[in-house]
Amino acid sequence: MSSAASRRGEAGDGWNAHAYARDARFVAELAMPVVELLDARPGERILDLGCGDGVLSQAIAARGADVLGVDASAELAAAARARGIETIVLDGHELADSSQIRGRFDAVFSNAALHWMKRDPQAVVDAVYQRLLPGGRFVGEFGAAGNVAPIHDALRREAQARGLDADTIDPWYFPTEAQYRERLEQAGFVVEALFSFERPTVLPSDIGRWVTTLAGPFVGAFAPGAARDDYVAAVRDRLIDTLRDAQGRWTAPYVRLRFDARRAAA
Ligand code: BEZ
Repeated sequence: MSSAASRRGEAGDGWNAHAYARDARFVAELAMPVVELLDARPGERILDLGCGDGVLSQAIAARGADVLGVDASAELAAAARARGIETIVLDGHELADSSQIRGRFDAVFSNAALHWMKRDPQAVVDAVYQRLLPGGRFVGEFGAAGNVAPIHDALRREAQARGLDADTIDPWYFPTEAQYRERLEQAGFVVEALFSFERPTVLPSDIGRWVTTLAGPFVGAFAPGAARDDYVAAVRDRLIDTLRDAQGRWTAPYVRLRFDARRAAA
């Protein structure tokens, strides 16, 4: 789900599979409708682009499909492999040129990953198109314009306040419906469905954990210890009045962009 450069941090590539399972299991659980939309059939060959720890790859494989997972994080790819998913460590931007991936696919699936591929989103979409068989489908969901906006804003402002250039460290690409439709069509896809929707999500833990687990490039820009702790605390303080309720529960205002696009039949 990721650009290696974006998903960095002190533990190797910045992803911690244990923390991800603890604080972000909802990422996969809430994406089951995307697996339904993919509608994988027995024997189909499916690429899971940004497979993370492989929970959804496993759900797709359970339908009898042959799934190859790719993820820029070696840590998460290893977790996917431990679930029995064949997995390659690869940044989505390298999809076009990688000799590790052989042949073409009936479908490319992607959940909560494309927003990490910010450097050249069009190159990623073009590469997906090239990796599909004629008639193949590209089905996915990721952050749309406005996704986690107050959190994103707080991360950027507190980074700027500490002398960092937020544009340089900001790893996320959250397009509008129109922007992503245009990318898909430019690559040659026929867009069957594409829409965005708000999905406020009650978090399983404090927002500080969300920030530490899921906003690695921001947090990793600060040295471990006081500087980092101060940054996370300041982000939290900015959000407490708007995102935490009287019972102490935190809600993240996710906005998703879901799509189903097809490569023309030969
Ligand atoms: C998302 O799935 O929308 C997301 C995940 C991590 C950071 C930012 C957004």
